[in-house]
Amino acid sequence: MLNDTTVKLETVSPQLNVLQWLRNQESLTGTKEGCGTGDCGACTLLVGEVKQGQWHYKTMNSCLMLLGNAHGKHIITVEFLTQTKHPELSDLHPVQRALVECHGSQCGFCTPGFVMSLLALYINNDSYPGKKAVIHALGGNLCRCTGYQPILNAAEKCFDYPRVEEPWSEMALQFEKVLTSIDAIPSLRQNDESFFVPQNLEDLLNLKNTYPTAKLVAGSTDLSIEIGQQFLHPEQIISVLQVPELSQLIETEQTFEIGAAVAYDNFIQRFCAEYPESKELFERLGSCQIRNTGTLGGSIGNASPIGDPAPLLIALNAKIEIANLNEHRVIDLQDFFVSYKKTVLQPNEVITKIIVPKRSEQQKLACHKISKRIEDDISAVCLAVNVTLKENRIISARCALGGMAAIPARATALEQALIGKFCVTQSFIEAANTIETDFTPMTDVRASAEYRLDSAKNLVTRIGTEFSTPSDDTVPVRIYHAAL
Ligand SMILES: Cc1cc2nc3c(=O)[nH]c(=O)nc-3n(C[C@H](O)[C@H](O)[C@H](O)COP(=O)(O)OP(=O)(O)OC[C@H]3O[C@@H](n4cnc5c(N)ncnc54)[C@H](O)[C@@H]3O)c2cc1C
Ligand code: FES
Ligand code: FES
Repeated sequence: MLNDTTVKLETVSPQLNVLQWLRNQESLTGTKEGCGTGDCGACTLLVGEVKQGQWHYKTMNSCLMLLGNAHGKHIITVEFLTQTKHPELSDLHPVQRALVECHGSQCGFCTPGFVMSLLALYINNDSYPGKKAVIHALGGNLCRCTGYQPILNAAEKCFDYPRVEEPWSEMALQFEKVLTSIDAIPSLRQNDESFFVPQNLEDLLNLKNTYPTAKLVAGSTDLSIEIGQQFLHPEQIISVLQVPELSQLIETEQTFEIGAAVAYDNFIQRFCAEYPESKELFERLGSCQIRNTGTLGGSIGNASPIGDPAPLLIALNAKIEIANLNEHRVIDLQDFFVSYKKTVLQPNEVITKIIVPKRSEQQKLACHKISKRIEDDISAVCLAVNVTLKENRIISARCALGGMAAIPARATALEQALIGKFCVTQSFIEAANTIETDFTPMTDVRASAEYRLDSAKNLVTRIGTEFSTPSDDTVPVRIYHAAL
């Protein structure tokens, strides 16, 4: 459903994204294109999806959202907001009125994106949720002109106006009735190209069996960049996003089973309640829009050496379940990655879930990401260290790094150097140099090889200080320096 209209599309290019469709085919040009890569937020939309009978609305980057994945969703564009009548606000929506009154818009190019991010904040909170929540919600929106303070003021002011019920919940319920009457596998086709949106695991595995060269897609935050920038042109795309079996988060006494298609935003709260040490890592993964869309299955399937979740999951000894039409198999995540962007996944296979053990007693965990910006930036180096202690001695250690090799990998020399030592800063200072045995990183646009090595060693030392009790912290800490 696009605003208040149900739309049926069948013959459209499977590579088209929602932004291109809105602007070029629907003439809805309020949604802007800035970067086309999920970095600026000018293209932000509010997207509703039904979960357990309830419609939930979140922001997404339309430049990254492939049109096929819009099946069954409710897309709200900036044009629709003034259709909600607010006579006392000159018919602007409260978030728009607040932006006007606080001078939160100058050239105006970023404004529709900010309006949509503020709208999500507004409808998901009854009152002003505080500056931290606002910064979190706006982390994926860039503005070149205002210096941000007027926008932060607007985020507070919009809650001062009288609240009005948004009209779209009722529309979404009507739309749901249309959806339940569809029984074929929803698809888009043009010429020889197709985009399939299977609605159950059996259909997904059948399709992957029939089209082994098809590209799988979940949130498409990685894949649409390959399509847009590297001109990837898959003949078939199969979406895993609407397969219920891949969309569940199951918590047992011993594990989290995170469905490969569960968006970050839908599991990090529960996961971080178990592992609060990972909260900052996940909060800094992309932006609000990226976390609303991206998935663990996509991060692992992409096999990027700089994906943030893999080092943490390898350090936690996570496993992944892989399925084809005939069997399901479970393997250690560390064995999934073979070489740069190569994995053990066979052409007819799909990642179905990621299984993460819950914490044990005497376990200490730390994970840190080094990137040029705090918000919305990919790692230069990421380190996760997971140790088990007995009488303050390290009896087991799993350490993994991203950004240091062609794949996310364990630091086995570092692990060996830690095992048997007391969990004090000095042990980590002494072990830090083993990073040079474990890794020979490369220089690229994000960081030099020397910077990566020195940052990784410094992170080991930092984790030592975090793990130690204050009385151990008399040891002078050596800091390595290298140019970026
Ligand atoms: C602006 C921006 C900022 C970002 N910031 C970060 C960051 O800070 N940290 C970080 O780690 N990443 C970041 N990313 C990368 C990306 O968001 C993550 O890797 C995300 O988890 C990918 O998930 P997805 O569902 O969007 O994957 P998709 O793009 O849908 O898929 C990615 C790959 O995985 C494959 N795949 C998807 N699902 C499956 C499956 N079930 N089985 C097998 N293969 C599958 C696809 O074929 C594709 O090759 C950023 C991306 C953008 C655009
Ligand atoms: S156009 Fe910049 S995030 Fe989409
Ligand atoms: S008002 Fe100009 S970019 Fe934000």
